[in-house]
Amino acid sequence: MRDGQGSLPAAPAASACTDGGPPPKLATRHLYKRYQIEVIRDLQLAVRPGAFYSILGPNGCGKTTMLRILCGLEAPSSGEVVIDGDVVDLTRQHHQHRVAIVFQEPRLLPWKSIADNVRLCLRSLGVSEREARERTRHYLELVGLGSFMHYYPNRLSGGMQQRASIARALAVEPDVLLMDEPFSALDAQNRRIMQDETVKLWEETHKTILFVTHSIAEAVRISTEIAVLTARPMTIRQVVTVRDHADTRALEEELLRMLTEEVDRQRALDLERQRAIVGA
Ligand SMILES: Nc1ncnc2c1ncn2[C@@H]1O[C@H](COP(=O)(O)OP(=O)(O)OP(=O)(O)O)[C@@H](O)[C@H]1O
Ligand SMILES: [Mg+2]
Repeated sequence: MRDGQGSLPAAPAASACTDGGPPPKLATRHLYKRYQIEVIRDLQLAVRPGAFYSILGPNGCGKTTMLRILCGLEAPSSGEVVIDGDVVDLTRQHHQHRVAIVFQEPRLLPWKSIADNVRLCLRSLGVSEREARERTRHYLELVGLGSFMHYYPNRLSGGMQQRASIARALAVEPDVLLMDEPFSALDAQNRRIMQDETVKLWEETHKTILFVTHSIAEAVRISTEIAVLTARPMTIRQVVTVRDHADTRALEEELLRMLTEEVDRQRALDLERQRAIVGA
């Protein structure tokens, strides 16, 4: 099944948008990341403009590391990040290409109102006070928090806090929005509401979204494409285009099969490494 040799009619790992279509909105070329261990190996990501691109992969395979590199919080060991065809160094402070990230937890400053949380982030990017105020109002209204602007985070529900952090990311007006398991701390009901709201936001803003999740059902429900990652050293195992699969149940089962194989491989590798360290 690896390298696209399987029952799913998969898009190639470097997806179809490289073949004569528009250039990918976001891509990586031969991206590697190594700490004490090799985490990412030769990652060739290609996300077409306007995609809702989900990522599934085993625990600890390097999903967060990849997102941190894609938004410039971390530098790759080697390889390139490419936005709209330009090789970019997002670790530089003021870059013309904006990539925003929403983490698993809202990460709001508790001593600031949610409006101030959003404004503060814009001010640090050099946005004028007046524009920051306008954008803050606009994006908080867009996520349904217009009447809660002056609330402090601890007076909002978990779902509302996560919506505020999404507004903060959108207010940056990024080219690409990265989301790292943004709904995993929410209960099932709120999670579904947030999925629907995120899809609505995606439709309204035409953003390109890269969405990490552990939920196959969530990925199938909201994505246009889904990439399954390998165990560490991580790379893309397969990319599937959701609309090519009328039978969503069969798609979920196939994704589960691939993911389970990678999870088992990751476990075996971790165990091997542990034995090597203990035996050393
Ligand atoms: N700053 C760091 N220094 C050293 N090792 C790190 C660092 N950040 C991450 N790692 C290692 O890189 C590997 C991948 O971590 P990462 O958090 O990216 O995985 P993940 O796929 O996001 O996991 P999860 O599914 O649990 O969220 C792990 O083995 C982790 O220990
Ligand atoms: Mg992670």
